[in-house]
Amino acid sequence: MTVKPTVLRDLPADLEREKLPRHVAVIMDGNGRWAKRQGLPRIMGHRRGVDALKELLRCCKDWGVQALTAYAFSTENWGRPLEEVEFLMMLFERVIRQEIDELISEDVRIKFVGNLTSLPGTLQTEIYRSMNLTQHNQGIQFTVATNYGGRQEIIQVCREIATKVQQGKLQPEDINEALFEQHLYTVGTCHPDLMIRTSGEMRVSNFLLWQIAYSELYVSDTLWPDFDRAEFHRALCAYQQRDRRFGKVN
Ligand code: FPP
Repeated sequence: MTVKPTVLRDLPADLEREKLPRHVAVIMDGNGRWAKRQGLPRIMGHRRGVDALKELLRCCKDWGVQALTAYAFSTENWGRPLEEVEFLMMLFERVIRQEIDELISEDVRIKFVGNLTSLPGTLQTEIYRSMNLTQHNQGIQFTVATNYGGRQEIIQVCREIATKVQQGKLQPEDINEALFEQHLYTVGTCHPDLMIRTSGEMRVSNFLLWQIAYSELYVSDTLWPDFDRAEFHRALCAYQQRDRRFGKVN
């Protein structure tokens, strides 16, 4: 992961720059409940969710977090009502098209991970276009998990490695953690230091199962569309209090 050193803007005084997470992952939960509370259709929650995500990305960049990964659509989300799924696909496409110029000017490198081949063709076109146009950007790595499932990712890695063994390109004893990681969607990006989930749910929901082995988990009761800079600040303060031992004794 190459991310150039940023000029930090507005880093709150109570946060230590050296102890910031390098990579933050976020499960953006609670859009539907947010909309219901406002008496709005669920899709309005997703619309407001985009604003919250943009704000978090801006904040990560301002404060010097090198990578942000957001869970936009899981492999299980296809089971939602058809009109909601269609709305989300349309929303993703429109947001990428609308935001691409700003992503470029803000030096954001965008990457989509997941089984992209099952997404609508027009969305795939925008996805690959945005990845190509931002591939040399170094301000922040922004990964969007779309049609993503952690178990599916692990199975995909197993298939690729098994094929190489079958072809004689690898021996079974060559298989280790480093080799496995080379086949993950997230190759080249460090593991999340902090994983945030909103709306109070205490689950990881098939997100980055391999990568979060030693991530610090932070659950906020706030519904995703209301997750703002102040909430992120709280999450970072909590993170900086954690004693990360990685299974060892200090
Ligand atoms: C979960 O809330 C949210 C989602 C499944 C969609 C999240 C997507 C966005 C915020 C748009 C991101 C856009 C781009 C281009 C990256 P929920 O619907 O499960 O809420 P609920 O639990 O209250 O029903």
